[in-house]
Amino acid sequence: MRFAGKVACVTGSSRGIGHRLAVRFAEEGADVVVNYVRNGEAARKTAAEIEAAGRRALVVRANMADETKIKEMFNQIKTVFGRVDIFIHGAASGRNRSTMELDTKGWDWTLSVNTRAFLIAVQQAVRLMPEEGGSVIALSSFGADYVFPYYASVGASKAALESLVRYFAVELAERKINVNAIAAGAVYTDALKHFPEMEQTIKHLKAKMPSGRMVNADDVANLALFLCSKEAEMIRGQTIRVDGGVTLPLV
Ligand SMILES: NC(=O)c1ccc[n+]([C@@H]2O[C@H](COP(=O)([O-])OP(=O)(O)OC[C@H]3O[C@@H](n4cnc5c(N)ncnc54)[C@H](OP(=O)(O)O)[C@@H]3O)[C@@H](O)[C@H]2O)c1
Repeated sequence: MRFAGKVACVTGSSRGIGHRLAVRFAEEGADVVVNYVRNGEAARKTAAEIEAAGRRALVVRANMADETKIKEMFNQIKTVFGRVDIFIHGAASGRNRSTMELDTKGWDWTLSVNTRAFLIAVQQAVRLMPEEGGSVIALSSFGADYVFPYYASVGASKAALESLVRYFAVELAERKINVNAIAAGAVYTDALKHFPEMEQTIKHLKAKMPSGRMVNADDVANLALFLCSKEAEMIRGQTIRVDGGVTLPLV
């Protein structure tokens, strides 16, 4: 119960990795804000799991591409919980095309949801963090550094996200807020279904995995829980890979 009495807000927690993070934080004592944009039913299922763990859940529909909706979400959090101790930006979207096919509408959408939202939301979250400080995590991916088919918009958005994490880490240190990013390897979620030729890419990655298995959402949650704990106080502005070793430069 590392987070008893704390409030965690996890964007994109109706499904996938965000869902697992929300439930794991609740199991460790936190009340949780469940954010989504389309799948209300899935978000309510996440909330039911949080409540089954004995914690309070606040479900908020807010499109992370919309500054006003983000601000409204934090107003709701202020009214219901009066504070935020942990903010995790898991919501993500993307235009899955090669660079030459990428349109500016898709680019703007991807950067808005994945990166601009982080800027706005962290500014809002910090205002609700108590004097004793808090934690911020951005979910990135190793596509920020490595080139994947059809991943240019998301990869670039994550690279900018990781940079923003470093700036926040330094500028929020005096507020006792630590800020880090987690770059996960491929995790089987709905997100992967939207990439053309994903079966082939997964097969290729699986063959390269020194760990012999794919990364799962609990692997990401284990690190997130640690990064938000007192023990990780001096880990600041880092992007930590949870990828089973797949990106190691093997000889
Ligand atoms: N899966 C992977 O292989 C992998 C690898 C590395 C990093 N990551 C990162 O981990 C995070 C979670 O990925 P995932 O695979 O779990 O994704 P996912 O299963 O596709 O779930 C995406 C989540 O984000 C929400 N979302 C999407 N657009 C939104 C918007 N505009 N406003 C608010 N919420 C929005 C979705 O809500 P709705 O249910 O309402 O649509 C859903 O809860 C992302 O940041 C992703 O880049 C994933």
